[in-house]
Amino acid sequence: MEFFIDTANLAQIKEAQDLGVLDGVTTNPSLMAKEGIKGEKNILKHYVDICKIVDGDVSAEVIATDFSGMVKEGERLAKLHKQIVVKVPMIKEGIKAIKYFSGKGIRTNCTLVFSAGQALLAAKAGATYVSPFVGRLDDVSTDGLRLIEDIRIIYDNYGYSTKILAASVRHPMHIIECATIGADVVTCPLNVILSLLKHPLTDIGLAQFLADAKK
Ligand code: G3P
Repeated sequence: MEFFIDTANLAQIKEAQDLGVLDGVTTNPSLMAKEGIKGEKNILKHYVDICKIVDGDVSAEVIATDFSGMVKEGERLAKLHKQIVVKVPMIKEGIKAIKYFSGKGIRTNCTLVFSAGQALLAAKAGATYVSPFVGRLDDVSTDGLRLIEDIRIIYDNYGYSTKILAASVRHPMHIIECATIGADVVTCPLNVILSLLKHPLTDIGLAQFLADAKK
């Protein structure tokens, strides 16, 4: 399973890259705003800066919501760097744009996916990745992981090559469950990746080994 980091924070991306387990980055307009990245020029430069840190795909989201606007913006993003994947929202115009990009060899990540039907449409349109939001479904008392299971079955039934990129992943059990189900990718903040390291028995065992080593 691939690990992507869900942030636009360069220091955190570097820390995850240095850990040696990072396969890519996802961003969105909220994450860019959180880092204070404003204005088209700065935003485009920031995407290139991210690509320079990480070896892997970097999702950059379009802001336009109409077909021609998405195409114009997406083509500009794709030209920035070979690692850029154009992130497109799951709306009618977005599906048309994903189909267009697919025909042009531009890779896409269909975002804001909350149902299996949406994921099926994204795959049919030729999306490279589909991003179901696990945590946000859990937030509204709906089983986010069940959606990952359903999409896995549907994609396997028909041999769709669209990768399932589980997003809105909030804690280590989300990651473990996604890995068990067979999601292709999880994207989450750095602290969630690092939480996989933790186990009290590891700490207790190490403390004992170090104490015994002094004897
Ligand atoms: O990749 C989408 C992600 O940023 C959403 O996460 O925690 O805001 O639901 P969250």
